[in-house]
Amino acid sequence: MPYFEAPRSALLVNSLCGADANPRLRLIVDAVVRHLHAAIKETALTPEEWITAISFLTRTGQMCDDKRQEFILLSDVLGISMLVDALATQRGPGATENTVLGPFYVSDAPRHENGADIRLEKKGEATLIEGTVTDLSGQPISGANIEVWQADTDGFYDVQRPATIPEGNLRGQFTSSEQGGYHFVTAKPLHYSIPCDGPVGELLDGLARPAIRPAHIHFIVSAPGFERVTTHFFVDDCPYLQQDPVLGVKASLIAEFRRPACSHDSPEPGATQWAARCDFALSPK
Ligand code: BEZ
Ligand code: FE
Repeated sequence: MPYFEAPRSALLVNSLCGADANPRLRLIVDAVVRHLHAAIKETALTPEEWITAISFLTRTGQMCDDKRQEFILLSDVLGISMLVDALATQRGPGATENTVLGPFYVSDAPRHENGADIRLEKKGEATLIEGTVTDLSGQPISGANIEVWQADTDGFYDVQRPATIPEGNLRGQFTSSEQGGYHFVTAKPLHYSIPCDGPVGELLDGLARPAIRPAHIHFIVSAPGFERVTTHFFVDDCPYLQQDPVLGVKASLIAEFRRPACSHDSPEPGATQWAARCDFALSPK
């Protein structure tokens, strides 16, 4: 092999792979090396800047534990989470679209009856969320699992403040009825900042990039025989829809939040100040 020379640097690195290399790994690393070397050449990266980048990645790793995943946050703000999902997910027309999972999902959230109020702290404007789960032809799917979670009125998920927010606040699982329907009461979602006290926050700051996520409620909807949907519905009157730091907004995921004309058959009839429909159309597996 020829000795190192900058013009052919990526080629030299990639030519080190052996005949027994894992073909997929080799393909990916080959592309990463080519693009990374090209970026370093294009920007004439200095040794000091490279050390800064290494320190950034080191601190990103050090900030990760079972409660916080700074690397996923980095992937989110770089648009990688959305891109990887977009490339992997090909759904039929009319199917509910995915968006980012985010770091605050809990897999075993409390299960509630339809109509339950998930505001354990009774804070926020009472909002009825209702909808149906159907297949792509509009046939109801009964027994679908609907997982929901959202931030509170101060912008925090229960898992972010376990000492002060009751576990399971604004979080839960519901089951769709015979007609595919579900409904529950929550607080009207508000915009909030993504966690900015780590390296990702420094990065956004240095790039003068916004950190406020538009108001939304997270959903994971699953049913046997159908593709699981990991998504949000966004609040239509939120002023931050156009500048989501994790690029999660899609037009089809913006729900109209309206003043309810009549009360739903919920435990506190007429108590809700807002109502929104969040319907799900699932693709067959
Ligand atoms: C969230 O909406 O919970 C979220 C998504 C991506 C990054 C940070 C937060
Ligand atoms: Fe969120």
